[in-house]
Amino acid sequence: KPAFFQVAIDGPASAGKSTIAKILAQNLHFVYVDTGAMYRAVTVAAKKAGLSYEDEAGITALLPKITIEFKPGTPVQRVFLNGQEVTDEIRSTETTNNVSLVSSYAAVRKDMVNKQREMTEKNPVIMDGRDIGTTVLPNAQVKIFLVASVDERAERRYKENKQKGMAVDLKTLKEEIEARDYKDSHRAISPLTKADDAIVVDTTGIGIDQVVAKIKTIIEEHQS
Ligand code: CDP
Ligand code: CDP
Repeated sequence: KPAFFQVAIDGPASAGKSTIAKILAQNLHFVYVDTGAMYRAVTVAAKKAGLSYEDEAGITALLPKITIEFKPGTPVQRVFLNGQEVTDEIRSTETTNNVSLVSSYAAVRKDMVNKQREMTEKNPVIMDGRDIGTTVLPNAQVKIFLVASVDERAERRYKENKQKGMAVDLKTLKEEIEARDYKDSHRAISPLTKADDAIVVDTTGIGIDQVVAKIKTIIEEHQS
């Protein structure tokens, strides 16, 4: 078992992974690692370098020149790419609709997985993504597979976007989420799947507080 406690949270887009992971990390004094933000930052790096998202060789060559840092912030962690803040840009529609392609490249996955494992060496962590329980932290003490119906996930993202002043209609959002889930589940390298030993938590119709409480209980059961 890992020296420092590890919680892996995986699941499809907009299931509530980052919201729940962030609250749990604060409660338990664990480090929170948002791996989706890292793949999003690589996608923004490609754009800033003037590369096409299809240019696997170009993006591979760019990787050694990329640094990604997290800094505390509310309501979301702040993300820095090569020292420049990209907290908002990584959530743009363009980034969201191209991140699944960029994150399917072998070199990108290898580099991000190495970076993610380094972050577990000195602190207990709660890490959310798609391949955490299956690939990044196969020995994690707790693995959660967070799901919710696609209608509810689209509705949640719609409300969130509306608050931010981003106007995308519900039907389009649902289609975008389904397309991304399909790509993430069908790529060759470490696709989104439930680890055999992951606990499924269905959050359809369940509020944030209740989901947090449920997973906190699961973690506490594994800590003793
Ligand atoms: O928050 P949301 O569910 O929209 O996505 P995210 O967690 O920010 O992840 C964005 C994208 O990064 C996913 O759709 C995947 O294509 C990719 N990703 C991945 O491949 N592996 C991970 N461990 C995390 C994210
Ligand atoms: O990280 P992931 O894409 O899985 O989802 P998220 O960004 O944490 O959550 C998407 C949206 O759903 C956020 O606006 C959350 O506040 C909301 N949410 C919710 O309404 N009920 C839950 N049980 C979990 C999340």
